Amino acid sequence: MSVIIADPEAAVTLLAGGNLCAIPTETVYGLAADASNSKAVARIFAAKRRPLNHPLIVHVADLPAALKWVQSLPDWAEKLAQTCWPGPLTLVANRSELASDQITGGQDTVAVRVPNHPLTLDLLRKLRERGILGLVAPSANLFGQVSPTNAQHVVSDLGSYLAENGDAVLDGGSCSVGIESTIVLATGEQPVILRPGAITGEIIETLTGKNVVLEPGNTPRVSGALDSHYAPSAEVKIVASSHADNYLPKSGFIALAQIPTPEGLVRLASPETASDFASCLYQSMRYGDELKLVNIYLVLPDATGIGEAIKDRASKAAQPKVRGNS
Ligand code: TXA
Ligand code: MG
Repeated sequence: MSVIIADPEAAVTLLAGGNLCAIPTETVYGLAADASNSKAVARIFAAKRRPLNHPLIVHVADLPAALKWVQSLPDWAEKLAQTCWPGPLTLVANRSELASDQITGGQDTVAVRVPNHPLTLDLLRKLRERGILGLVAPSANLFGQVSPTNAQHVVSDLGSYLAENGDAVLDGGSCSVGIESTIVLATGEQPVILRPGAITGEIIETLTGKNVVLEPGNTPRVSGALDSHYAPSAEVKIVASSHADNYLPKSGFIALAQIPTPEGLVRLASPETASDFASCLYQSMRYGDELKLVNIYLVLPDATGIGEAIKDRASKAAQPKVRGNS
């Protein structure tokens, strides 16, 4: 029997009963559990084979719900949340007593976000009516691997674990943004970007009037900050568009539509814009693995706007793989 379900009511029943359910968001699919159920939260780490000290993001229905999980937000961060939520922004702030050590990895801060997907917002509101104030949801992939952007991706990574345990995947179609949310540290006077995403530094500067500090990878608190992450089985290689020789056979190619495919390579995607590039990147890398390609060559769009986040994810995917983190 398939673990894929289409009815948010069924997902409510599962989650309220202490089961796991993968949920659609605008960024990537998350593997969700009731944030107040420590047994269910423990199973997320087991399912993903994720180290226990990697903190989780709490997903909530709206800003008032988010404020319950933190002690307070600086004015600039509240303003940002008012404009960007629901949307691909995660705020990290000093935690309230609701956020357990299990969720935060023992840190004094907690990450919160309001995802922008109609099914999941509906789900979060229905859970709140039952007294469940948030869902923890890391990306629904095995630790270190490519995040899932549709329900089938979740099944191919976690399907047997979910089936054995009576868990499910709520199918909400393909994710529109396609890469994980921007993570912003909101404990001080200035916004600090810990992980770039679709809410760019420029957007944050415009909305807050503050200078933004970019600190991706400076902290092991962010699991995506490990060297090899978001990685398919194929070797990922970032190349300049002019690079024409030395491509290995049985390899794939991803670049903006105007860049022609080098001879002998399999075109995996031809996105028209940088946003389209982000939304098809993970799906295309997974497709490369299905075709059992040896290498996947990427020509990246300019590293401005969302291009910054694409460069971040592509660079992690291109790192040599460390055993135990693949
Ligand atoms: O778009 C997203 O953010 C997706 C969807 C499902 O919402 N979620 C996601 O979760 O990417 P995950 O667990 O794969 O990545 C969340 C990141 C982790 O790298 C974690 O270290 C970081 O958030 N994080 C969580 N709490 C934190 C904290 N208190 N301080 C710093 N980083 C934190
Ligand atoms: Mg992840």
